Amino acid sequence: MTDLHVVILAAGKGTRMKSALPKVLHQLAGRSLIEHVLTTVDQLRASSTVLVVGHGADDVKAALGHRPNLQYVTQSPQLGTGHALLQAEPVLQGKKGVVLVLYADVPLLQAGTLQRLVETHRGAKATATVLTAELADPYGYGRIVRNTKGQIERIVEERDASAAQREIREINSGIYTLALRDSGGALFDHLHQLATDNSQGEYYLTDLIAMYRQQNLGVETVCLDSAEELRGVNNRIDLADLSLTFRQRTNRSLMVSGVTLVDPATTYVDAGVKVGADTVIGPGVQLQGKTVIGTGCQIHAGCRLTDAVLGNSVVVLDRCVIVESTVGEGATLGPMAHIRPASVIGPAARVGNFVELKKTTLGRGSKANHLAYLGDATIGEGVNIGAGTITCNYDGQKKHKTVIEDDVFIGSDSQLIAPVTIGKGAYVGAGSSIAADVPAGSLAIGRGQQVIKPDWATKRRAARAAENVAKGDR
Ligand code: UD1
Ligand code: CA
Repeated sequence: MTDLHVVILAAGKGTRMKSALPKVLHQLAGRSLIEHVLTTVDQLRASSTVLVVGHGADDVKAALGHRPNLQYVTQSPQLGTGHALLQAEPVLQGKKGVVLVLYADVPLLQAGTLQRLVETHRGAKATATVLTAELADPYGYGRIVRNTKGQIERIVEERDASAAQREIREINSGIYTLALRDSGGALFDHLHQLATDNSQGEYYLTDLIAMYRQQNLGVETVCLDSAEELRGVNNRIDLADLSLTFRQRTNRSLMVSGVTLVDPATTYVDAGVKVGADTVIGPGVQLQGKTVIGTGCQIHAGCRLTDAVLGNSVVVLDRCVIVESTVGEGATLGPMAHIRPASVIGPAARVGNFVELKKTTLGRGSKANHLAYLGDATIGEGVNIGAGTITCNYDGQKKHKTVIEDDVFIGSDSQLIAPVTIGKGAYVGAGSSIAADVPAGSLAIGRGQQVIKPDWATKRRAARAAENVAKGDR
């Protein structure tokens, strides 16, 4: 939308979070609160977006470093919402159009609602438009005071309200569109006139509404049927409540798109995760970060996938952890496999129980079915890694690479002491410690020679028995 300027208020301390982290950086479904708001704002294609920062400003700016187009203004000290918006004057003065005021701690807000607000504002050529909602329990919110004709007169804060005003159930969301210029002058000229004659001694942005009405400037309202998306985060209880709402929203849309959730109540899918149709997700599964899952996959109970990319028809059995790794079509993992960052599991490969991979590529159709550690390894296609195989990749100072070429067979309980290369098609005998390269097509056995002492055990038992007879305690 052209000539739309978004100002997001984020200077408040968030005292009730009891946290060293600024409130707006707390996570909801894998995204910070402010990032949720910015993701919604992205959809509006505004001409500019300004963030008013104060408490924890440096942390907030650092966390948003990937958004170069954001502009920042600092509010210090924090003297109220009216004062907060005033800080945007240097950035917005001389601009035309509409300012959309948002709070950084209201993460569930939908872009469609904001579009409606802006369109109503523009359609009515209003000076201000307030987003409101009717609440069964309006406690704590500013109330919308209307005159006998039903027009908005002013907004009164809970603390400043009379008993009769407290009965009003229509609340101020704190979200407004404001004309940058009107017949009475510029928005910032009005803001400079706000006073602090209220119970908190703050510059209330809400007082702008009464000021406009007294000057006969047009003030409109958009009243929502449900206040759910207007809820703000003040403490960690709110954070959990809103996370649940967000999760239900996400899970419903996944199911609508063709994903089966065995138990939606225990399915945790971050914002921004993608799951293909006909995938079945078991109970207690967490899909985090930028995880992408193909079609027709099965993710069984209790798995956590963080920034994982799975092709189609992948089966992940119970209780696997997959982090920052890729899994090819038709591969099977687990139960209880641990795939650590920078691993690539090829199509139709098989990684079984208690197998850990780190920075390892396992080629097409290769198998590591039981109890193995494969770190810093490049493993070709059609390879069989026996139970208990360990790549000894760390010498106490440095990590070293293991290369296992196509069609190699590694016998069970072998140690591959890196750096080492096992050539194409070679065999490694079970129980080997391999410290030198194995040429293609050969057999390597790296273990002590087996010694047989015939009848040794039988004779030992007979001798013990004879001793016991002598002692008389048989
Ligand atoms: C405000 C509204 C109230 C509304 C409610 C909705 C005012 C006076 N009241 O009250 O009518 O019902 O929101 O949630 O506006 N902030 C700053 N700088 C400041 C003060 C606040 O940046 O000096 C930011 C906060 O970080 C927060 C937002 O503004 O994101 C709202 O501030 P808050 O103190 O929570 O306002 P409320 O008292 O809830
Ligand atoms: Ca608040």
